[in-house]
Amino acid sequence: MLKVILSFLFSFMLLACDGYDQSETQHAVASAHPIATQAGIDILNQGGNAFDAAVAVSATLAVVEPYSSGMGGGGFWLLHSVKDQSDVMIDGREVAPQKAHRDMYLDKTGNVIPKLSINGPLSAGIPGQPAALVHINKQYGQLSLKEVLAPAIKAAQQGFKVSKHYQRMASFRLKALQASPAAAEIFLQDNELPEIGFTIKQNDLANTLTAIANQGSAGFYQGKVADALVNGTTAAGGIWTLADLAEYQIKSRQPIVGQIGRFKVTSVAPPSSGGVALLSMLNMLEARDWASLKLVDRKHLIIESMRRAYRDRAMFLGDSDFVSVPVKRLTSKSYAKQIAADINMKQATPSNELPGLDVEAKGNHTTHFSIIDKQGNRVAATLSVNYPFGSCFVPPGTGILLNDEMDDFSAKPGSPNAYGLVGAKANEIQPGKRMLSSMSPTFIESDDKLAVLGTPGGSRIITMVLHSIINVADGKSAQQVVSMPRFHHQYLPDEVQYETGSFSAEEANVLVSRGHRLKSLSSSYGNMQVVVVNKKTQQIEAASDPRGEGQAIVE
Ligand code: GLY
Repeated sequence: MLKVILSFLFSFMLLACDGYDQSETQHAVASAHPIATQAGIDILNQGGNAFDAAVAVSATLAVVEPYSSGMGGGGFWLLHSVKDQSDVMIDGREVAPQKAHRDMYLDKTGNVIPKLSINGPLSAGIPGQPAALVHINKQYGQLSLKEVLAPAIKAAQQGFKVSKHYQRMASFRLKALQASPAAAEIFLQDNELPEIGFTIKQNDLANTLTAIANQGSAGFYQGKVADALVNGTTAAGGIWTLADLAEYQIKSRQPIVGQIGRFKVTSVAPPSSGGVALLSMLNMLEARDWASLKLVDRKHLIIESMRRAYRDRAMFLGDSDFVSVPVKRLTSKSYAKQIAADINMKQATPSNELPGLDVEAKGNHTTHFSIIDKQGNRVAATLSVNYPFGSCFVPPGTGILLNDEMDDFSAKPGSPNAYGLVGAKANEIQPGKRMLSSMSPTFIESDDKLAVLGTPGGSRIITMVLHSIINVADGKSAQQVVSMPRFHHQYLPDEVQYETGSFSAEEANVLVSRGHRLKSLSSSYGNMQVVVVNKKTQQIEAASDPRGEGQAIVE
């Protein structure tokens, strides 16, 4: 049965995708926090569209999930507008400040200085989220900016309760939070880990959100807030200037689109590596006639495709406004056929037969939400401050927790970042450049089905989205898609990281005998948020990953 369904996916039949125009009966929001999901639903019920809800959910997540995303961070919003049947990627990724330079995280002997790109203001790129939210509201929204930011302002004023997950994240970053008095004041309790149930109120953040609600982008990138951001970062050794803030621009980009069997896959373009790597992996699976294989061979092939796509990520991907990224070639069927041809189905290809270093993956944080409204407008958005609680630095008086996305640049060719990812010249630091990302908000659509999906998870984001695409195409329910066990290979380190349940004992033996190094993870990973529409019945399903504390609402 599985084989039949998979052949369905990987058949070469190209069927046109009818746009999902409207259900007129239901809308849905799936996000990583119940308060944010409710904010999105409330905005939809007030007559807002999916884009209004996306602004409300983004801003509310910035308040209630400060370890994952924030107004001091950035992200990618993938929008589908029913009116003109168009897809657009809003790139609100952070950029390197003008005083940033290639070797800024290296010591005199050329070695990477530990933690300099992870903690404190020197690790922070110029935020893109405020500009992106203002742009989405202005270009695509129906409600006013004040209306869509109101739920976030209320959440910041009223506060939210510390959960077990919050406590775990804060404990991971305790020392760095304690190093910033303004961050410790907001996110800790008497400078220590807050108790579960303790209320985190953020009055400075409410004021900054109010300035944005009243003045638009100028409320953040100019005037009092900008002054406080620059003074606060400079006093703590940062390099931001008022010009860096005033000159920040979002980019509207063409998404990456590919056809895999019956399914049209729409995902994000550079500076995310997500769309390119996803298409590359899916094309490789298709090139090796994945559907005709036994289950264990499929898993072998998935791992080998991941290895090769992440090798290319390290070699070629960066901000396409600064470097030439061979997107067309990397996402072409002919290229996938060529690189998939050397996959040995009986033996893993050691990554050290390809250029690189042996490195180790570490912790991560980011967030994702998926929305569809009653008109069929949809948004998949993945947002980040990078590490849990970003840089852990708050410029006094702003309530803005700064990101540490500078760590997503390659500080030194071949040297791993916090996710163990290596990079090359394409992703080296340059002033004004966007750092390479793995965030992969994605739509997949066939003539009878539509899914809006994505997840946090650092370097593992792209492979989680790959699993989800396969599972949606395989006919799994939204709940099954978010719950399925996951495995991941990222070229380096040369190992298959997996959650319990990914492989049967027999499959594990076969994979090991073929040379795969299997590394069982002690904890689960990811926080997938999925909305699936059955276009024939117009029924909507939504699900929030059971590994997180999110909520999905369809109504
Ligand atoms: N900061 C995680 C990412 O953008 O991939």
